[in-house]
Amino acid sequence: MVIKDKVMKSINKQINAELYSGYLYRAMAAYFESTNLPGFARWMEKQAEEEHNHAMKFYKYVFERGGRVVLGAIDAPPSEWKSPLDAFKQAYAHELKVTALINDIMKTARSEDDTATESMLKWFIDEQVEEEANAKFIVDRLALVKDHIGGLMIMDHELGERK
Ligand code: FEO
Repeated sequence: MVIKDKVMKSINKQINAELYSGYLYRAMAAYFESTNLPGFARWMEKQAEEEHNHAMKFYKYVFERGGRVVLGAIDAPPSEWKSPLDAFKQAYAHELKVTALINDIMKTARSEDDTATESMLKWFIDEQVEEEANAKFIVDRLALVKDHIGGLMIMDHELGERK
């Protein structure tokens, strides 16, 4: 069954949100690069790639359902953060927002009786549990480390190992 307009529009909006997420994490990678924390930068680059994949998953789904992808302007992300902790707190807050957006698409799909979209969204709902947990874990670790340079260096090494 061809995707309904209302569901298609909400997914198109989400494609933009995922692309913005990638843009935000690229901006955070650039910030970490500028503060000589290359491991943190690498982690953010990987995250930006994941966000692009999320956008493409939605993109392909719209086509599979006979819809039309319409790309809009992507907002400029911030470029400065007060500290690594501040950046990760904002990354975590951003993921909570993304989860809320996905829940909204689910509500729209349900109200339109679109079981295929509901099924597709399950992957994203599970993914958001992981995305939130990853960001929160790093926020909590950074809060423990505070201003101890040794702890920050160990974290930089660990985050740089992200596959
Ligand atoms: Fe695509 Fe980080 O949510």
